[in-house]
Amino acid sequence: MAKIYTSQADEDTITAVLRRGFRSSGPKWTVLRLALALSLKQADDPDASFDQIEQGGRGSEYTLEILTGSSQKEEAGFVDAFCALLSVRHGVDLFANEALYTRWLQRHIRRGLKEIQTTWRDSHDFHEFLFQEFFSQTADAPASERTQNSDSLLSALSELGFQSEILTQFEGPRVTRHTVRLAEADDFGKLERRLDDLAFTLGLKDAGVFMAAAGAPKTVWLDVPRPAAAWKSHGIEVLTAWKAPAGGLPVLLGLDVVGEPVARDLVSAPHLLVAGTTGSGKSVCLHGMLLSLLQSRSPQQVQWLLIDPKRVELAAYAQVPHLYAPIVTEGPDAVRALQGLVKEMDRREKLLAARSARDWDGLGVDAPPRLLVVVEELAALLAQAQEAEAPLVMLAQKARATGIHLILATQRPDSATFSGLLRSNIPSRIALTVQKSAESKIVLDETGAERLLGRGDMLVKWTGSAVQRAHGLHIQNNDVSALVQRVTRKGTGT
Ligand SMILES: Nc1ncnc2c1ncn2[C@@H]1O[C@H](COP(=O)(O)OP(=O)(O)O)[C@@H](O)[C@H]1O
Ligand SMILES: [Mg+2]
Repeated sequence: MAKIYTSQADEDTITAVLRRGFRSSGPKWTVLRLALALSLKQADDPDASFDQIEQGGRGSEYTLEILTGSSQKEEAGFVDAFCALLSVRHGVDLFANEALYTRWLQRHIRRGLKEIQTTWRDSHDFHEFLFQEFFSQTADAPASERTQNSDSLLSALSELGFQSEILTQFEGPRVTRHTVRLAEADDFGKLERRLDDLAFTLGLKDAGVFMAAAGAPKTVWLDVPRPAAAWKSHGIEVLTAWKAPAGGLPVLLGLDVVGEPVARDLVSAPHLLVAGTTGSGKSVCLHGMLLSLLQSRSPQQVQWLLIDPKRVELAAYAQVPHLYAPIVTEGPDAVRALQGLVKEMDRREKLLAARSARDWDGLGVDAPPRLLVVVEELAALLAQAQEAEAPLVMLAQKARATGIHLILATQRPDSATFSGLLRSNIPSRIALTVQKSAESKIVLDETGAERLLGRGDMLVKWTGSAVQRAHGLHIQNNDVSALVQRVTRKGTGT
């Protein structure tokens, strides 16, 4: 009888989900089916590494009958449903090949279990985790079904009781900025409180209207999103055309609502949190920052420590000359690497003292390279190795003068992942789209990120300055590999 096999780590995950996630001793197949669903959500296929089970572990085995439910006397058609599902997914007739069917089934289930293991933390409610994993669709949410024009905006405003006049309109990359004069001065506050109603009246679904004072009396800007099909694209070409300023670690984040570049200096951050729901564009945003540095800074100026617990996102950088150490994918290695950086920070402090320099720029031209630590998914890292938090906190607290900077990305900016100590020492934030206004407050200390458009739309809060909206550059995987190849061949950045 055909079976699928699990490893000891898989079994630990299953047990954890049942005991601490569901707080029940229910049947294990419920977890296996969830894992299957999680894996099927991913666009790529699980690889052959899930065929292997390490020797000597306490893994387990499951008959197809248990997985597909026929032993629970469900409809026989249910068995066929699984097989049909995977046949469609992989474009082969798996009814004719049971061995191949079980192989794909095992790969998906084990990948799903691994996904749970690397991204779900005990402290995080499991039902909430599932909700986020299954229902975060912001990446594909249509910004707006209808094209808005000045008439529809005027009539929506008057429906809500605001007499107004539209002075100008400007089409930015994704939103149209309407400059609107309101009849009464105190309409400003009233309208600000009714932006959700305005978006609703305009038929904007989850995306929202952003409003700001336009300078002149009683005049405001209303930024109304256009349908995604009417966006102006801005991808890698914007980055390659960008002239990075001298000094610091400048990164190009995207274009603002009227199409001007939005760039920041990571040195002034001096540490950064990037947060947003799954599919909101965090990884693409990280690529934009790394490529900004790759094309404008040499390894003598900056070196990277890349921590990628999910293993896939940053793999493209494995050969760049800017790596401080090989890309770290395992929790224990990350802890060692971060502890090593804390030691490096101490060495650097001594160097500063010996040369009576106050900060890294004070060392002059022969300063050792700045170091940039990037954690691609903080929640996954801490789920694998909670001990990673202590060195991260130490670096966040003290590393700025020594030229060491952190970028932490996470889909879960809650207190379990982003503890008070990290929070208070990481003042700069990028919020991509989040699900709820409460999450926006956690990231930015204000609401708004729940009204963003997905796909790299972001609110940027840099230490010491007001929140600015930017539409992220649409960097694609082949853009990354092309630029990496170019720089790797040349040996250095500029
Ligand atoms: N700036 C952007 N412009 C257009 N599409 C984007 C942009 N950023 C992200 N996307 C789309 O959203 C998808 C998910 O982005 P990703 O960075 O992988 O999200 P996350 O890391 O937050 O899960 C991308 O594959 C891409 O299709
Ligand atoms: Mg990502």
